Amino acid sequence: MKTYATGNKAASRDETVVSIYRKAFDVEALPAGKQFWTLCARDDELLHLTSDGFLTEHQYHGIDFSQENIDANRAGHPDANWHCGDFYTVLSNQVGAPGFNPAIVNFDSTWMDRAITETIRLLALLESQENLMLVSNIVGKTRGYSLDPDEMDLRLTDSRGWERAQALGWDKHPEWYVYKGGAANTTMQTHIFYRR
Ligand SMILES: C[S@@+](CC[C@H](N)C(=O)[O-])C[C@H]1O[C@@H](n2cnc3c(N)ncnc32)[C@H](O)[C@@H]1O
Repeated sequence: MKTYATGNKAASRDETVVSIYRKAFDVEALPAGKQFWTLCARDDELLHLTSDGFLTEHQYHGIDFSQENIDANRAGHPDANWHCGDFYTVLSNQVGAPGFNPAIVNFDSTWMDRAITETIRLLALLESQENLMLVSNIVGKTRGYSLDPDEMDLRLTDSRGWERAQALGWDKHPEWYVYKGGAANTTMQTHIFYRR
């Protein structure tokens, strides 16, 4: 079911990440020892989620392929964890490593069609993790291009990986969200998966 998230990026983050995690896992904040892995850009998200009491800086792992973003974030928040590189590659080096214990993986992407392929790849990479929510933000409309609203579900149905993930206990949240992107005439879609 399509739902319109209201307001700006922080409001939609509250609606699609924080509230849904709290409800799905019946907790107020990220459990101790659990981690939040995200495409970070600068520190807006970290400041929002720590001031809300949802997580601590130690629990936050920001990934970005911009070295400039990572250096600025590390200088401002040395207690958080910063990784420069491609999202999938950084995570694939973590899966199976001691200490990797994600509660939320937030693929807050700037891609359209390619983000669907990447989401399916991330599901396959993370399928064995327990108590995990995967959030996938994809560009739904920009500069005259738009993504068929049903494309994510159609591609999941076609993918053997999704069938296997479901057999392992993964679900897709029944609602997916549309919110206004940063650039003019851009809309974003949020799709949420979890394994409890
Ligand atoms: C939408 S922003 C993240 C916003 C942040 N999560 C927030 O809520 O404020 C996406 C960032 O990820 C970076 N990025 C996009 N795709 C990436 C990828 N596949 N791997 C690493 N960084 C990526 C971009 O440089 C950009 O800074």
